[in-house]
Amino acid sequence: MNVSDAIRGRRSIRDFLPDPVPESVLRQIFDAARWAPSGSNIQAWRVIAVTGTKRDAVIRMARSKHEAGLVRSEAFPIYPPNLWEPLRSRRFALAEDMYRALGIPREDKVARRTHVARNFEFFGAPIGLFFVIDRRVAHGQWAHLGMLIQTIALLIEERGLGCCMQEAWAAFRPELAGMFNLSADEMVYCGMAVGQPDRTKPVNQFERTRISVDELAEFLGFKD
Ligand SMILES: Cc1cc2nc3c(=O)[nH]c(=O)nc-3n(C[C@H](O)[C@H](O)[C@H](O)COP(=O)(O)O)c2cc1C
Repeated sequence: MNVSDAIRGRRSIRDFLPDPVPESVLRQIFDAARWAPSGSNIQAWRVIAVTGTKRDAVIRMARSKHEAGLVRSEAFPIYPPNLWEPLRSRRFALAEDMYRALGIPREDKVARRTHVARNFEFFGAPIGLFFVIDRRVAHGQWAHLGMLIQTIALLIEERGLGCCMQEAWAAFRPELAGMFNLSADEMVYCGMAVGQPDRTKPVNQFERTRISVDELAEFLGFKD
């Protein structure tokens, strides 16, 4: 598989088979991913991988908090309040495409909430990753962490596995920090569900959209 195929083949997987993924496979992925670039090579990142009883404990914590309605936003919000256009519409379009694939109409708030809660079961994936960053870093290091995350996602794709990055876990940052004994300076940025995709599920098949090259890029000074 070449890089272009991995980039185009990767998609967010939101329904997994329970098949386990061995630690050795995860280690190979991290061994390759640690070569992701970071400004000044400072590598201000850390990954915590959970499976088995550790995964179950995280799920239990999230379920109890979510059921109690204790999902809260805090410092470092994932999105700014009042997201503006065209970003707002893109976000809305993704939700519509995804819920259509799931067969959940807009009015069915309970079913939508139930799907959101599937985040907190890693969508059935056997492995959960948590990306940890130091609160003291500047914005550059947050971008660097993104490079590591996408590198891991592409390596997962290369191995025929799948993943879903999960900002949803930001709702439980204090609880996760406690469970993983993070230092006072550390926080979980986001999670990632990793496993064998259930490719039969429509939620893993719906067509995704992207802005065009001309919306993405501006070409200055080119002659060809
Ligand atoms: C950092 C990051 C966090 C994300 N968090 C979630 C999440 O919590 N739950 C979810 O279902 N999808 C999440 N996504 C997936 C995005 O919705 C998805 O990447 C986007 O719609 C593009 O679709 P694709 O990944 O299938 O190409 C996240 C993506 C990124 C990059």
